[in-house]
Amino acid sequence: MRTYDVIAKKRDGNELNESEINHVVNGYVNGSIPDYQMAAFLMAVYLKGMTVKECTYFTKCMLSSGDIMDLSHIAGVKVDKHSTGGVGDKTTLIIAPIVAACGVKVAKMSGRGLGHTGGTVDKLESIEGFKVGLEKEKFFDILKKVGCCIVSQTGNLVPADKKIYALRDVTATVESIPLIASSIMSKKLASGADCILLDVKVGSGAFMKTSEEAIKLSKLMVEIGESFGKKVTAVVTGMDEPLGSSIGNFLEILESYEVLKGNGPEDLREVSLYLASQMLYMAGMGNLTECQDKAKRSIESGSALKKFKEMICAQGGNISALEDEYCKIKFRVKYECLSSAAGYVTHIDASQVGKASMFLGAGRLVKEDSIDPYAGIVLSKKVGDQVNEGEVLGTLYSSDVIKCKEAENIFKESFKISNKQPYKSPFVRAKVTFGKVDTYVL
Ligand code: URA
Repeated sequence: MRTYDVIAKKRDGNELNESEINHVVNGYVNGSIPDYQMAAFLMAVYLKGMTVKECTYFTKCMLSSGDIMDLSHIAGVKVDKHSTGGVGDKTTLIIAPIVAACGVKVAKMSGRGLGHTGGTVDKLESIEGFKVGLEKEKFFDILKKVGCCIVSQTGNLVPADKKIYALRDVTATVESIPLIASSIMSKKLASGADCILLDVKVGSGAFMKTSEEAIKLSKLMVEIGESFGKKVTAVVTGMDEPLGSSIGNFLEILESYEVLKGNGPEDLREVSLYLASQMLYMAGMGNLTECQDKAKRSIESGSALKKFKEMICAQGGNISALEDEYCKIKFRVKYECLSSAAGYVTHIDASQVGKASMFLGAGRLVKEDSIDPYAGIVLSKKVGDQVNEGEVLGTLYSSDVIKCKEAENIFKESFKISNKQPYKSPFVRAKVTFGKVDTYVL
């Protein structure tokens, strides 16, 4: 088979068969296909798309390029969750203990943050002593004893995706729905869970800018999952402003801790409970109302908080430091950003807030950058709030006042203030299951 012919077939908008897709993916991974041909192939896919069948072949081939986690020896239904990434999205930290407290196992492999969005692994590592790089046996052991465990992706999980994603990143081919769907699903399928909940973010701070695009991506991922015999649900949730009030690794741990204690920002609590109840529902824990009640009760009774603490201890984290760390945050450079206008907050550009947080040291511009676990932002105002001139919009935390001054303008420019009270869209925009789309708001 000639690679040239496969590229030309896709360029002309034709459907590729399994052996043609295997030829390209395997050839690129084993080095027989050079970057320039793979780049041409990816651009052809970007421009002409791929059918569900092609995406399934693509996913299957990437999936078989590395290790696949076998969780079958662990009793009960195992669920996993993936978010397409957003600013202030710390829902995994809240949902995993809620779901585990309700008796369903959460086996989660997470990534590090890059660019304006944070990674769950970086957030957890901001807890003194917390280990994310566990041996398989230890991961299984915690899963059995505690019911939830969050680790970093192992080096050999879908190596094909790693290599292809790096090329997409420099060839303007990341923003392709078939490529995103195959990339995410290959990693989720390799993680070995029985049920997968996908949280597809939509809005200014997300990959998908419109609900239509987010639903299209959701449907494709659900269909790919189904063809591998997995139960997959995708929910489309808003990312028009940061989720919750805290952005930055340790600040987000503290906020998650607050939500598990029954406090914390309402939007974060609501979306976390919604996602957790969907996971319980998929795992067969009752009808949706029963699952919602179970999730709520796990917070009210303190059982979810207990699970969170158990997971942190099992993974080496220092729980007592978690309460004391409030002091650490307080004694850093703390820089208040004041509003120069009065009115209602009508918009907070999440990607801009993410960028400001990155400047403060909370995120990475390139993979090799180190991060400051205590840097970040706490919002004092959210969309819909009233603000007076000179009132605090948010507080920046960093090791260095110069970084705060650099981040201040980006942060302040992310706010839109007007004298008209805005309409606040509900967080959950749509839910996609196999063959069904429930749209709540577009
Ligand atoms: N996240 C992924 O894992 N893959 C993509 O292609 C895009 C976002």
